[in-house]
Amino acid sequence: MHKIRVDLERDGYNIFVGYGIISDLAELISPLLKPSRVMVVTNPSIDELHGVTVREALAQLHCDVALETIPDGEQHKNMATVERLLDKMVGARLDRSSLLVSLGGGVVGDIAGFAAAIYMRGIPYVQVPTTLLAQVDSAIGGKVGVDHPLAKNMIGAFYQPLLVCIDPAVLSSLPDKHVRNGMAEVIKYGVIADEGLFGLLERHSNSLERLDAGLLEDVIKRCCQIKARIVQQDVRETTGLRSILNYVHTIGHAIESVTDYKRFSHGEAVAIGIMASSKIARILKLLPEEAEKRQNQLLIAAGLPTTLSGVGSQSIIEAIKLDKKASAGQNKFVLPRSIGRVVVKENIPPETIELALKEILT
Ligand SMILES: NC(=O)c1ccc[n+]([C@@H]2O[C@H](COP(=O)([O-])OP(=O)(O)OC[C@H]3O[C@@H](n4cnc5c(N)ncnc54)[C@H](O)[C@@H]3O)[C@@H](O)[C@H]2O)c1
Ligand SMILES: [Zn+2]
Repeated sequence: MHKIRVDLERDGYNIFVGYGIISDLAELISPLLKPSRVMVVTNPSIDELHGVTVREALAQLHCDVALETIPDGEQHKNMATVERLLDKMVGARLDRSSLLVSLGGGVVGDIAGFAAAIYMRGIPYVQVPTTLLAQVDSAIGGKVGVDHPLAKNMIGAFYQPLLVCIDPAVLSSLPDKHVRNGMAEVIKYGVIADEGLFGLLERHSNSLERLDAGLLEDVIKRCCQIKARIVQQDVRETTGLRSILNYVHTIGHAIESVTDYKRFSHGEAVAIGIMASSKIARILKLLPEEAEKRQNQLLIAAGLPTTLSGVGSQSIIEAIKLDKKASAGQNKFVLPRSIGRVVVKENIPPETIELALKEILT
């Protein structure tokens, strides 16, 4: 088992990564908290797959363990679901020393973490992420919240978990499309911060959808180390470092928005965005052509798209302007300088973006 510390001035915590460690949840929790009650929050399909293991493990805490399910899907990541969950928490008489355990992907984690943040002004919660995306990204960093009908992730808080328990074994039940979705984020970490990770993925490019156990554990650990390093230097996204993680998404978010969040999964849009960003970087002579090619090959090997059809470059450029994270009308991009190294560039001329987009639009 690996332990990665997210070292914060207040509320620092550990991320544990290891095969089979959900069975050890009680041992991980008990040195930190003797909860009065526990509530596991998950959705019906994850409950069916992994609920029993988690509840059996938590029984070792020798307190009441309740289970609440919320409906599956991003369309339920809203205040109505949070309110229903809060009703259940009041009904179960959770108090300040009770523990919420989030068992699920990014949707469950964001909702349960937010409910923990606002119930009695904050009770402890543990993240047990069950998708690759949640294991390498959403369960770490304390961003919790829900969507507003007019904008994604508009309502939320920064609220750190007591610990994060990552068991790669639970991914064996994850459908391939969700593995690919998470792999886009894994490749993203390689591109922005870890050439070694990128090289490792290249060496196993024939089996990215089903990495063998030891390798998968290593890959997840490396991603967690990168996210932890970024988060601990800029926990509330004030110095600009953490916003690197957003600007990597500048083009991906624009693609999701012009296709109404329907045509592409987040990971697919991220993949196309990574490709477009490296083309901008190459056009600006920041990135050698060879590095751009390597990214293209790795994304394709992971079953991810690197081109886009049926969308005009102008609509993407307009969507980039509307991105809520663009500051004062200026666009901001994270562009690779080499594999593993990026720079933040502002005010990229629309003509340059257009040139790059023309190369990916088919
Ligand atoms: N908080 C953050 O920092 C942060 C970062 C990135 C993304 N997010 C959020 O994460 C969400 C996306 O998360 P996601 O990609 O995990 O999607 P998700 O939570 O919707 O999970 C995808 C699907 O996989 C199923 N599933 C989960 N684990 C499974 C398993 N082990 N076996 C079989 N099926 C399983 C789920 O029921 C769901 O149908 C978005 O709402 C996004 O905004 C948050
Ligand atoms: Zn992402």
